[in-house]
Amino acid sequence: MVSIELKNISKSFGPVTANKDINIFAKGGEILGLLGENGAGKTTLMNVLSGLYRPDSGTISINNEEKTFDSPRDAISAGIGMVHQHFMLVPIFSVTENVILGNEETGFANFLKLSESERKVKEISEKYSLFVDPKEKIERLPVGSQQRVEIIKVLFRSAEVLIFDEPTAVLTPQEVAELFNIMNSLKATGKAIIFITHKLHEVLEVCDRISILRAGEIVGEADPKVASNKELANMMVGRPVNLSLERRSSKPGKILLDVKNLSVLSEKLDLAVSDISFDVKEGEIVGVAGVQGNGQTELVEALTGLRSSLSGKISYFGQMVPNMNPRKIHQIGVRHIPEDRQKSGIIGNFSVGENLILNNYYAAPYSKHLKMDWDVVSIESQKIIKNFDIRTPSNDTLAQNLSGGNQQKLVVGREMSSHVDFLIASQPTRGIDVGSIEYIHEQLIKSRNAGNGILLVSTELEEILALSDRIIVLFRGRIIKEFESNPAPEQIGLAMAGHSI
Ligand SMILES: Nc1ncnc2c1ncn2[C@@H]1O[C@H](COP(=O)(O)OP(=O)(O)OP(=O)(O)O)[C@@H](O)[C@H]1O
Ligand SMILES: [Mg+2]
Repeated sequence: MVSIELKNISKSFGPVTANKDINIFAKGGEILGLLGENGAGKTTLMNVLSGLYRPDSGTISINNEEKTFDSPRDAISAGIGMVHQHFMLVPIFSVTENVILGNEETGFANFLKLSESERKVKEISEKYSLFVDPKEKIERLPVGSQQRVEIIKVLFRSAEVLIFDEPTAVLTPQEVAELFNIMNSLKATGKAIIFITHKLHEVLEVCDRISILRAGEIVGEADPKVASNKELANMMVGRPVNLSLERRSSKPGKILLDVKNLSVLSEKLDLAVSDISFDVKEGEIVGVAGVQGNGQTELVEALTGLRSSLSGKISYFGQMVPNMNPRKIHQIGVRHIPEDRQKSGIIGNFSVGENLILNNYYAAPYSKHLKMDWDVVSIESQKIIKNFDIRTPSNDTLAQNLSGGNQQKLVVGREMSSHVDFLIASQPTRGIDVGSIEYIHEQLIKSRNAGNGILLVSTELEEILALSDRIIVLFRGRIIKEFESNPAPEQIGLAMAGHSI
């Protein structure tokens, strides 16, 4: 069975040491969990292993043989495959076309022999329970199935070592369970798996060993058979983390958001939100629970002026907003943490500082007489960077060079730092480590205690339960159930699955 060993790996980006003298190993037939805070260096280390980056020093050995990778292609031919968090698939191509795309060994001649490749895709998909139709177009597949295509892609290239970088962040609980089955069947056939996640219970459930990174260095190993959530959190963050929240009961005031009989069409012109009515008052957090894809995205887009609604009424602070558009909505005091930071949260090739003022760069104090006051921008962004613990060398760093979780903190910090009356928080802690989740949750509660209204949209049941004063559950675009106080997790789980009693 395959064995890999990384020895004394160091990798810096200018002044930032992302990996320092790292030693880890992985063997066929086991799943290694890689844990660490946002910016600890997990993705960088895996990018080194998959040939995307050359390490500054250190060695990679596969089956006790030292290897140098000049490109991902070299790593692939050495049997290493990475399933990236952001899929790299062509939507209008079929599953098989995507699998063989860019495969040098197959070549263009075989691109024409599609049926042969389709057979091989089918064979792989059956062997590892990666159920997907080889002929189906990618754009017609749900996220979980697209991820399977990414896995088939690396298996098609004969990967023996599979790297999964936060694969569960975008999956439904059902899809997570299926992914774990797949990982276990890969393990059973002797593949080595490296798994990155911020969800501690997932590591404990599926891993055989755990390595923990902090600030670019390995700080220890843990045994999932005996370790607890709390111990893992301590090791990652280097201090005790409070995993449960204390909050006093809410004192709801005036209605801030009033939604009446709202219907919204999806991109494909389906009825994504169907005749829903609810409100959010001052001083309360209303949680919108539901399995991903039950209308949450379209609802939030309609509420933030990103998508027009089909029918119904949306009023903020007692008034309908004429010609709703994102800037207008912002100007009346509504803030928005979007669900997809890459798509609508940050501008990658803008600096951290520029990203932090995206909402109001055109107004005082940032802009005076058509000129930007960069000193003010710098002072204000330093504050947000400090408060939200955004790990960045400076506010001039490009946002795309931050780690995934730090990009998320940037978005959250921006939306929660200027004057807020109403906040729409969509998956606010996606990809964020436990220590920073604690802080963001505290900020949400603080904002609610100060009398602001918050609509919290999250597919994380734990998050909904920890924060919400009231909960509505969306199922196929409708409110299937409302909870006035905190229900038992099973009750809400049933509603999420479509049971209204
Ligand atoms: N291409 C790059 N250029 C400059 N700095 C980078 C680059 N890639 C990563 N970094 C820096 O290296 C450090 C480690 O980042 P990395 O993405 O490996 O963290 P991570 O452990 O994967 O975090 P997360 O959990 O947030 O995804 C961070 O400080 C990050 O800003
Ligand atoms: Mg990462």
